Amino acid sequence: MKSSPRLLILIAILLSLAGCRKAEPPAMTAASASVNQSTAALSKAELGRLIFHDVSLSASGRQSCASCHDPGHAHAQPNAIAGQPGGAAMDQRGTRAVPSLRYLTFTPAFGIDDEGTPSGGFNWDGSADTLAAQAERPLLAANEMANGSRAAVVDKLRRAAYAAQFRQVYGERSLDDVDTAFLHLGDALERFQRDAPEFHPFTSKYDAWQAGKAELSAVEQRGLKLFNDEKKGNCAACHPSAKADDGRPPLFTDHTYDALGLARNRLLPVNADPAHVDLGLCKSGRPGPAADDAQCGKFKVPTLRNVATRAVFFHNGQIASLRDAVAFYVRRDTHPAEWYPKDGRGKVAKYDDLPARHHKNVNVDEVPYDRKPGQAPRLNAAEIDDLVAFLHTLTDADLVTRAAAPMPTGASVKPGP
Ligand code: HEC
Ligand code: HEC
Repeated sequence: MKSSPRLLILIAILLSLAGCRKAEPPAMTAASASVNQSTAALSKAELGRLIFHDVSLSASGRQSCASCHDPGHAHAQPNAIAGQPGGAAMDQRGTRAVPSLRYLTFTPAFGIDDEGTPSGGFNWDGSADTLAAQAERPLLAANEMANGSRAAVVDKLRRAAYAAQFRQVYGERSLDDVDTAFLHLGDALERFQRDAPEFHPFTSKYDAWQAGKAELSAVEQRGLKLFNDEKKGNCAACHPSAKADDGRPPLFTDHTYDALGLARNRLLPVNADPAHVDLGLCKSGRPGPAADDAQCGKFKVPTLRNVATRAVFFHNGQIASLRDAVAFYVRRDTHPAEWYPKDGRGKVAKYDDLPARHHKNVNVDEVPYDRKPGQAPRLNAAEIDDLVAFLHTLTDADLVTRAAAPMPTGASVKPGP
């Protein structure tokens, strides 16, 4: 038997009126008791945390935001599966790799500058305007949490263990109207991702080094130099590594978009259909990019913070190791057979995840991917290793499992924004 939500609200109201908020409400269900035993008012972010971890908001009853955005994996997928399982029976699959949710609070709104360069927005293609708006897709998508409608989500919210607390935070009638309740839900999830320190700890070894509180090893320093060198890695051109003018630590993304021409990921079930193509920015639903063919095949520059904790890389998860991800940049055009399959006539099918008419959008001008077959790659094998070692310094302290390396604690580093 479940106690009715109305009864719980009534109890909550009576308790708060009586001024004994700390008393445990009687008649809590086992599920609700395990989530939170008190009816003390939560902050929006704390409420958002409960929502983020609540599997009862999915049609399957087995998936929450945290299932795909695991805090122990930098709030990204905790596995190497290309396309996460989801759906009412957990038998559907996703179509893109799961990005880390860390450091997203610094993402600017989507916009196109005077030179026509798009930047900002959420998702690999920038389709969502805000963190709150973004939440709608996973909750409703048939291959994710698979609720049939906003009403179905709100219905589950009304039965959630924390429904009374939701009403305390957003108002007694906040769950009455579906659209209003859904807006509050998005707001709570956004507040959690913006306010909770776990989403932007700035506790990596690199942060400690920038604050003068840790040393980078010789290998890591060489890697950093290659990362910044405009004639070698040139990574910082899109993944900035220097502190901002206002002293804010670097985010390792400039929030722009680029077409890298990755190989098609044949492990993604959706790609069994040869007609399926993921064109990214020009199919994000935004009118500007939709009208501009040059934006097809472009995806958002992700942060490289915590990139060493990932098991799949790039929007389609096609590359399965960090070393290969770095090697791809410098060997894509010098050694294309390492990355692409051969077509029917035995010719290497470069950029095979994009229709031929969009191949011209692939960036072949900028260092490091400006080489031709026969030329030496911008980085040799040892330099790739150095660069990878440097990327490991971008892992937040809570995710570093290597006990040997001296790592800063969260308390010793406070360069936050
Ligand atoms: C089944 C796996 C799955 C679940 C469950 C899921 N997500 Fe995601 N999430 C993804 C994938 C995949 C993407 C990339 C989507 C894209 O680019 O179109 C993503 C993207 C995002 C982004 C944008 C990241 C960026 O780099 O801009 C945010 C924010 C986000 N999810 C939050 C949430 C929240 C909040 C929930 C729960 C309501 C949730 N996700 C549930 C898989 C999931
Ligand atoms: C011209 C801009 C640009 C430059 C230069 C650049 N990147 Fe990127 N980087 C991107 C974009 C865009 C993506 C996402 C592309 C996609 O998924 O389709 C990306 C993705 C990545 C990823 C995958 C991250 C993830 O979460 O899956 C890694 C790793 C990476 N870059 C490392 C590097 C390194 C190392 C260098 C230098 C050798 C570099 N990048 C240079 C634009 C750039």
